[in-house]
This record gives sequence, C-alpha cells and structure tokens, in this order.
Amino acid sequence: MNFNILKKIKTKFLNYRNITIKSIILKYITVRKLRNRISSKMYAIPLTISCYYYLYKNYLIENKTFAQSEVLKVPLPDLDSMQNGEMKEIKYGNNPRESFLLVKYNKKFHTLGNFCPHMGAPLHQGVLFDNIIKCPWHGASFDVVTGSCDTYPSLNGLIKHDIIKEGEKFYALIDTTSSRKAKVPEMAKRDPENNTKYVIIGGGPASLSCAETLRQAGFTGEIIIFSEDSYVTYDRTQLSKNLSTDIHDILLRDEIFLKTFDIIFRSDSKVIGIENFKKIIKLSNGATEV
Ligand SMILES: Cc1cc2nc3c(=O)[nH]c(=O)nc-3n(C[C@H](O)[C@H](O)[C@H](O)COP(=O)(O)OP(=O)(O)OC[C@H]3O[C@@H](n4cnc5c(N)ncnc54)[C@H](O)[C@@H]3O)c2cc1C
Ligand code: FES
Repeated sequence: MNFNILKKIKTKFLNYRNITIKSIILKYITVRKLRNRISSKMYAIPLTISCYYYLYKNYLIENKTFAQSEVLKVPLPDLDSMQNGEMKEIKYGNNPRESFLLVKYNKKFHTLGNFCPHMGAPLHQGVLFDNIIKCPWHGASFDVVTGSCDTYPSLNGLIKHDIIKEGEKFYALIDTTSSRKAKVPEMAKRDPENNTKYVIIGGGPASLSCAETLRQAGFTGEIIIFSEDSYVTYDRTQLSKNLSTDIHDILLRDEIFLKTFDIIFRSDSKVIGIENFKKIIKLSNGATEV
C-alpha cells in the first residue's frame, strides 16, 4: 500500500480531527437522498476515502509501531525580532498539521504543539494573555510554561518541545510521532488503604474536571460521580458541531480512562437529597449512598 497517497488524501480532503468515517458516510447519503440523481456506484468514492483515512489515522498517526519516529532539529528563525508576548507558527513539513507554536513570554522562548487537543484549532491564531494561550475556536486555555490545560472544553494539555542552542543558533527538537498528540495530565492512582471518599453530584465536564483535578493533586482515595445522564461525561460543545450519532465520538473520557484512574461513574443516578451530618446521599430510585 502506498502510504504517500494516503498522506496526500488526508492532507487534501480530510484535514479535520472531528471527521469520522460514519459522519462522512452519513453526510454523503444525506446529500444523495436530497439530489436522488447519483448512481449507487458513487457510494464507493466516499467509502474508499473513509477507509483510507481510517487506516491513515489509526495506523500511521496514532500507532507508533507503524509510524517512523524521527526527531527533527528545526531552526528557530528571527528570535531577535520577536516581541515579548508574541506567538508564531513554525512549519517543519508540507502537511498543514506539521507545525508548532513558538512563543516569547517573560523574555523566554517556549515551543509547544500548535493544535488544540479539543478539535484541532490552530493555536497561533488564538490569543496570548500573560502566560495563557486562548484557543480561537471554543476558548480552551493552556499554560505557556507547562503546556497544561486550564479551561474546558479541552482536558488535555499541549506537548512541549525542547529548545537547544548550537553556536549562535537556536533549534526546536520535534519528535514527529508525538508533536501532534495531546498531553494527558499526570494523575495519582487509587490506594485501597486510603478510606477518604469524595462524592461529586452531576456528570458534566465540571464534575469530571473536579475528579481529575483531585487525582492530579495526588488524591488516592475513592471518587464517585453521580449523574442523572445515561452516559459518562460527553463534550456538550460538540452537540452543535459534530454530526455523528454515536455517543462514543463525543465522550470527553471513555470508560477505560475512568477505570484506569479509579473514577467511579454512576450513570442514571439522580440525587434527590443530601443529609450532611449523616453523610448520606439519596437517589431517585430509592437507593442511598453513605
Ligand atoms: C449545544 C451546546 C454547545 C456548546 N458550545 C460551547 C462552546 O463552543 N464553548 C463553550 O465553552 N461552551 C459551550 N457549551 C457550554 C458547555 O457545554 C457548558 O458550559 C458545560 O457543559 C457546563 O458544564 P457543567 O459540568 O457545569 O454542567 P452540565 O454540562 O450542565 O452538566 C451537569 C450534569 O449534572 C447532571 N445533574 C443535574 N442535576 C443532577 C442531580 N440532581 N443528580 C445527578 N446528576 C445531576 C446533569 O444530568 C448533567 O450531566 C455548549 C453547550 C451546548 C449544550
Ligand atoms: S478547538 Fe480549541 S477549544 Fe475547541
């Protein structure tokens, strides 16, 4: 299989992170139904493109064993002319996604991933305010110094790249397999010996952020989220942007992630009462939790 062809297809037609095979096919079928003129053979075209995209995304971008890992030494141009508080996009390849972000903050230079982990917005088109990069699309914000994400709708941060000096010149070291990936925050794991319990009511992004922040701060006790919803936390912002009908396409974190960090998620569990002093929670189905 010629992977260069796949790369070109991805670059030309499908350079958006939120496109799924299903959404492409659904959109195509909708157009076809409306026009009712296209031969059934035409289904083959979007189907083939979708399959190529799927293979490319899963086996060339995401899977390190297929993608060749390479560390590129990319020169950082015109550093002297950069103003404090300025951001620049630096390209290191022909693919529009092959770029990183160069930022001058507090008289120091930082190099970070240029694409928002939420839905892939180019961050060099966003705003830099003090040490915070604000995404131009839905407002997630990232710390320039650590790359960590401070504001929903992203929960993941930006990869940071090392900068080295050789002679009088500065270079960024770009690992091509990780440069476009998001940085999942470090979190503590559950310690069964720790009997402290936190209960969070509501299963939206704020509750999930709360649970993750506890783990990021090193909390090893029990965390339970009670949610009236039937699904684990999904990205509400995508309800008006992603045409997929599959809930798994818009989950903020899947069940495997929650299990890995021992965040217990009780769906279909509406809380109707709290007895503070007895530390009891009453659910609408008559159950109680101590
Ligand atoms: C279509 C759409 C598009 C959006 N686009 C954007 C955007 O582009 N940018 C942006 O920043 N924001 C956007 N938002 C807003 C964003 O999604 C909300 O700000 C965010 O969801 C708020 O999170 P939350 O956890 O505070 O509350 P919610 O998301 O409202 O979650 C509350 C949760 O608590 C549960 N709950 C409530 N009462 C109980 C109870 N008694 N017991 C158990 N569970 C209970 C609910 O079922 C729900 O799961 C959008 C929202 C929508 C709907
Ligand atoms: S793409 Fe950045 S917040 Fe949505």
